[in-house]
Amino acid sequence: MSPFLLTRTLPEDATDAALRADVQQGLTSTPKTLPPKWFYDAHGSDLFEQITELPEYYPTRAEREILIARSAEIAAATRARTLVELGSGSSDKTRHLIDALTGLHTYVPVDVSESALTQAGQALVAERPGLSVHALIADFTARLELPDTPGPRLLAFLGGTIGNLLPAERAAFLASIRALLSPGDALLLGTDLVKDEQVLVRAYDDAAGVTAAFNKNVLAVVNRELGADFDPGAFDHVALWDTADEWIEMRLRSRTHQTVKVPALDLAVDFAAGEELRTEVSAKFRKEGVRAELAAVGLELTHWWTDSEGRFALSLSTAR
Ligand code: SAH
Ligand code: AVI
Repeated sequence: MSPFLLTRTLPEDATDAALRADVQQGLTSTPKTLPPKWFYDAHGSDLFEQITELPEYYPTRAEREILIARSAEIAAATRARTLVELGSGSSDKTRHLIDALTGLHTYVPVDVSESALTQAGQALVAERPGLSVHALIADFTARLELPDTPGPRLLAFLGGTIGNLLPAERAAFLASIRALLSPGDALLLGTDLVKDEQVLVRAYDDAAGVTAAFNKNVLAVVNRELGADFDPGAFDHVALWDTADEWIEMRLRSRTHQTVKVPALDLAVDFAAGEELRTEVSAKFRKEGVRAELAAVGLELTHWWTDSEGRFALSLSTAR
């Protein structure tokens, strides 16, 4: 079997310190917020995989359709020997790309979820003899150090996860990934597109309640890691479309007036009845906006592909 390496780029206590800082800052701000990266412990990663199968959640199916149709073109345009994937999760859709990239030497999945990386990496080396997999447990918003592997390099950021960054974070993130690209390297970016509000809201508030469970999982993570006493049943899942910002917001709305203790931070947090905690934004995009954001960091959009219903786009851009 070909090699599977798993590298933790930050010590475990750095993750712990980052969670503490985010919870301290987010729960003492007005309005209260928590960053979405903390959804993804093993249970949260599993819930996300369930979301991808829901009838209401179209982005995964739409992006898979594009990858099936376009992977050969992507391979011909990039001739990538190293594929780096940020927020790789199960790497499920990526298999279409890996199969098309006939000269691929190394696949570098990058994720904060160790469980997702281990499952995906071990399965891939078993399925694809000859492919090296060097997985990185890392926060893709922090400075990334990639392994020294042969170019050209294709950096993939799929699923529309870029929409989970706030605009300022997104600009900083794009600048930082541009710095990882040399001439001849490329970025493959998945972006969910602006569409009918009802379709969007249903995708984030499904009938089976899986997205609600995913949303509340962040409370379970804070309980387990910081000894907090959040009662997930005391919060309602909320998904709403923000027309001005063109993003979906997920929130948790406190059902009653309550005080939550976070012993690891020596913190007591008051929630008024009806008060909301923002847990995620999921921005939706338009072609010209994507082109402009890429151009702002020196990336030129060369290809733009959508699924047959025009719901989701994959774009390819190259370093200028
Ligand atoms: N790309 C996959 C998974 C999307 S879910 C798909 O398209 O289906 C988002 C993934 O990004 C999860 O696996 C999550 O653990 C990871 N993630 C979220 N924030 C992250 C961060 N700041 N750094 C690294 N990985 C992150
Ligand atoms: C990972 N990310 C692109 C998902 C999204 O659609 O914003 C996370 C998610 N949140 C609720 N459902 C799925």
